[in-house]
Amino acid sequence: VVAPVVTIDGPGGAGKGTISRLVAARLGWHLLDSGALYRLTALAAVKHEVPLDDEPALADVAASLDVAFLAEGAATTVLLEGQDATNAIRTEQVGDAASRVAALPAVRQALLQRQRDFRQAPGLVADGRDMGTVVFTDAPLKIFLTASAEERARRRHLQLREAGVDASLSSLLKEIQARDARDMQRSVAPLKPAIDAIVLDTTRLTIPEVVDRLTELLTERG
Ligand code: C5P
Repeated sequence: VVAPVVTIDGPGGAGKGTISRLVAARLGWHLLDSGALYRLTALAAVKHEVPLDDEPALADVAASLDVAFLAEGAATTVLLEGQDATNAIRTEQVGDAASRVAALPAVRQALLQRQRDFRQAPGLVADGRDMGTVVFTDAPLKIFLTASAEERARRRHLQLREAGVDASLSSLLKEIQARDARDMQRSVAPLKPAIDAIVLDTTRLTIPEVVDRLTELLTERG
């Protein structure tokens, strides 16, 4: 018997991370933050001085990635080779490197089974770009979360401000647009809704509204 999985795909800043964490907590299900795996691959590559365009070497980095996700209540600590990498993987530089590394087919292939291994009872909430289109194509519920680029830049700006980081709104918007373009135009696993995905635009919705809507959809689908 395979455990159920809800896939939550969409562009960066649409609220996937927060929403996925809250939905998983409400259901008592496991959580897969697939973006963190790409970020960790990028960080490990930088650490081991592997060039970000050396596809075979990067695939090796991805395949031998030594990571652990430690859930402590609502927060998750991420370890890379036994060291805390929770904050290090969240920088704009690592996000940018992750998006480059994620465009390489051999890297995506190397991370495929590792992602599928997260599917365990009682269920999984899988957050990413290709959860519904590639990794969990048989998921009973697929969600595609979007929001306008301007709104996503505004949210990211707020988030950074709360973390004490002063970034300009216009440069954040440019970065978001560049990353969207790269994620949507790449030849492997481009960012797009699965044909059977429910598209939810969160531009004018609050976080609790989105969580409630997803919980409703899950109940409807049994
Ligand atoms: O979601 P997050 O911003 O952490 O993802 C970092 C990068 O990893 C994204 O820009 C995207 O290029 C890549 N990614 C991906 N497939 C996923 C998750 C993330 O290509 N399933």
